[in-house]
Amino acid sequence: MNNKTWSGRFNEPVSELVKQYTGSIDFDQRLAKWDIQGSLAHAQMLHEAGLLSAEDVAAIKQGMAEIEAEIKAGQMAWSLDLEDVHMNIERRLTDKIGDAGKRLHTGRSRNDQVATDIRLWLRDEISTIQNLIQALQAALVDLADANADVVMPGFTHLQVAQPVSFGHHMLAYVEMLGRDFERMADCRGRVNRMPLGAAALAGTTYPIQRETTAHLLGFEAICQNSLDAVSDRDFAIEFTAAASLVMLHLSRLSEELIVWMSPRFGFIDIADRFCTGSSIMPQKKNPDVPELVRGKSGRVIGHLMGLITLMKSQPLAYNKDNQEDKEPLFDTVDTLIDTLRIYADMMRGVTVKPENMRAAVLQGFATATDLADYLVKKGLPFRDSHEVVALAVRHADSLNVDLSDLPLQALQTFSGLIDADVYEVLTPEGSLNARNHLGGTAPAQVRAQVARWRQLLQAQ
Ligand code: ARG
Repeated sequence: MNNKTWSGRFNEPVSELVKQYTGSIDFDQRLAKWDIQGSLAHAQMLHEAGLLSAEDVAAIKQGMAEIEAEIKAGQMAWSLDLEDVHMNIERRLTDKIGDAGKRLHTGRSRNDQVATDIRLWLRDEISTIQNLIQALQAALVDLADANADVVMPGFTHLQVAQPVSFGHHMLAYVEMLGRDFERMADCRGRVNRMPLGAAALAGTTYPIQRETTAHLLGFEAICQNSLDAVSDRDFAIEFTAAASLVMLHLSRLSEELIVWMSPRFGFIDIADRFCTGSSIMPQKKNPDVPELVRGKSGRVIGHLMGLITLMKSQPLAYNKDNQEDKEPLFDTVDTLIDTLRIYADMMRGVTVKPENMRAAVLQGFATATDLADYLVKKGLPFRDSHEVVALAVRHADSLNVDLSDLPLQALQTFSGLIDADVYEVLTPEGSLNARNHLGGTAPAQVRAQVARWRQLLQAQ
C-alpha cells in the first residue's frame, strides 16, 4: 500500500517536489494538541450517535494519550509522506490500534477538521493575548499614577501645543489597549463556533450530533452552513486585523519612546536591559526594543494583507489555498504575544525625567491658549483674545523668553484686562489644573482615571 491515505485513485506517486510543495507538516504540527482534542470529541459523539463502539472509543482514547505523550517527548516521527498533522496523527493511531483508528474519520473530512483545529487553537491564544493586554495596561496605569503631576508638552504636528500630564499621555494608550481588548473578546466569540460536522463541504450521511461535539469541545455555537463552515477564514482575518491594531498602537508608543529617549528630547530613559550598544560607537545606547516593535508591526500588518488576498478570489467551498492561512496566523500570534510580554516589562523599566519635560513646556509657549482663555473669562471675545495673545507671543519670541517671563507692564500693553493673577494661568501646572473635567489632563482627573482603570482591570 502506498503511504498516502488517498492514493488508491492514482497511477503514480506524487513527485518529491510536489510532496514538499503541498505538505504542511513542517508547520501545522503545531495544531497537534487541538487535532487530538477534536478527534476525541468526534469519537465520543460517534459513539453516542451509535456509530462507534465503546471499545473503539476506549482504544482511540488510549492511542491518542500515547501519541500526545510521544509528541510532548519529541518522539513523534512526523512524515512529509503523510502531508499534514491530521494524516500523521491518524496514521500513528491506526498503527497503534488498528481498525478503530481507521473508523475515526467516519462522518468527517480534513476540511472541517482543520477549520476546527485552528479555531480551538486560536481561541486559546486570544485568551492569552487578552491577559497580556491587561498586564500591559496595568503597567501603564502604574506609570500614569506615579507621574500624574509630571507636566510635559503635548504636541500637535509635533510642535509644542499645550501642557499635558505625562500620566494622561500614558492613559491615552490604556484607552487604545482597552478597545483592543474589546475587539479581541468580540472576535473570540466568532472564532468560538464549530465547523465540525460540515465534513468535506455538504455535510454527511451519518446521523451525527453536532451539539454533542460542540458541547464536548466548549464551542459557544455551531457553524450553521456546511459550505460556509469549511471555507470561512474571516475569523482569522478579523483576528489579524485586531492584532494589527494592537501592533499599530504599540508602534505609535514605540515611536514616542524612541523620540523621547533621544538626548534632543531627554524626556525618558529606558532601562539598559531593553537597549543595546553599537559595535563601533562606544557612547551609544539604542532603544532596540521599541524600534523592533515598530518594525514588527509591519510584519503583522503584512500578514493581514496576505490573508485578505488569500481569500478574496476563492470560490466556495474549501480550496487548498487555505493551507496558506497557517503561517501568517501563527506568526501573528507569536509576534503579538512576544511584543505584549516584552512591552509590559519595558514600561516598568521607563524612567521619567520631569525637569527636562518641564523645560520643554517653557520653550514652546505652551500656555498661550491659557492666556487666551483668561482674557475670554474677563470679557474679550475669543477671536480677539486669540489675536492679542498672538501678538504677545511674537513679542516674547523676539526676546527669546516665555510668556510667563514677561513683566506685568509688558503684558498689559497687549490688553488692559490683564492683571497680576495672569501668572497663575501661565504656569504649566496652572494650565494642567485648569483642565479639570472628564477626559481632561488635570492631575485630579488622571488620578480618577487611574482608579477607574484599576477597578476595570480587576473586574475582568
Ligand atoms: N492541510 C490542509 C489545510 O491546512 C488540511 C485540509 C486538507 N484538505 C484537503 N482537501 N486537501 O488546509
